[in-house]
Amino acid sequence: MAEEVAGAEWIVFPDKEALSLDAAYRFAALAAQRTGKGAPFSAALSGGSTPAMLFELLAAEPFKSAIDWRYIHLFFGDERCVPPDNADSNYRQANELLFTRVPLPDKNIHRIQGELPDHDEGARQYEAELRRFFSLKGDEPPRFDLVMLGMGPDGHCASLFPHKPALQEKTRLAAVSEPGLKPFVPRITLTYPAINSAAEILFLVAGSDKAETLARVLPGPADPDTLPSQAVTPTNGKLTWLVDRDAATLL
Ligand code: 6PG
Repeated sequence: MAEEVAGAEWIVFPDKEALSLDAAYRFAALAAQRTGKGAPFSAALSGGSTPAMLFELLAAEPFKSAIDWRYIHLFFGDERCVPPDNADSNYRQANELLFTRVPLPDKNIHRIQGELPDHDEGARQYEAELRRFFSLKGDEPPRFDLVMLGMGPDGHCASLFPHKPALQEKTRLAAVSEPGLKPFVPRITLTYPAINSAAEILFLVAGSDKAETLARVLPGPADPDTLPSQAVTPTNGKLTWLVDRDAATLL
């Protein structure tokens, strides 16, 4: 069942398994549009628990063989400021469930260095990596082929938390953000300019704990400082919400 409001389309799935399978097919199809002509496919992965099932699907058949990993470049929407082997690391989850299971060249993994003592240096280095990879000039934003996002029960996405200064960042592509939810460690996050310039933005939202917030985020009214996910509005791209029935009960 597809609905639409304010240009955002949302599709409701019976459960997280069906949602994750649809996301895997979308990832593979979008990737093939680029890799089929030998071009790189750039995707920013979301953190948290929701994408774990998707990562496992992509690392298994039929997706493992269907995707030409030589041309896949994986980034992160955000990272916790912890070492890459820490249980709270978004990189660690993606590495264990996906990177170590597919023939993805190490150079195609673009990690956020959350472990650096100077977190702003970590944000600057990530931004420099984005500028290098996308050959950015001046203040043009990167154009990810795909940005995947989750939504927290507080309406945050990436590490753009309600009422935090990172929401106001309109120039830098990556910024340090104080946490608004557990784990209460500082984060490094893509900013709205880096997210909203993507060709495709895909939210994956599952679970009854998201239902009340999703019922405020999707239909509106707009209150993006309180509900940061509402400010994800692609400037020249497509936004799709994949939600499961538990998260959609109040829509
Ligand atoms: C993070 C994530 C964050 C996540 C949402 C949803 O680093 O925590 O990037 O934005 O996507 O908090 O998290 P769950 O998938 O665990 O509900």
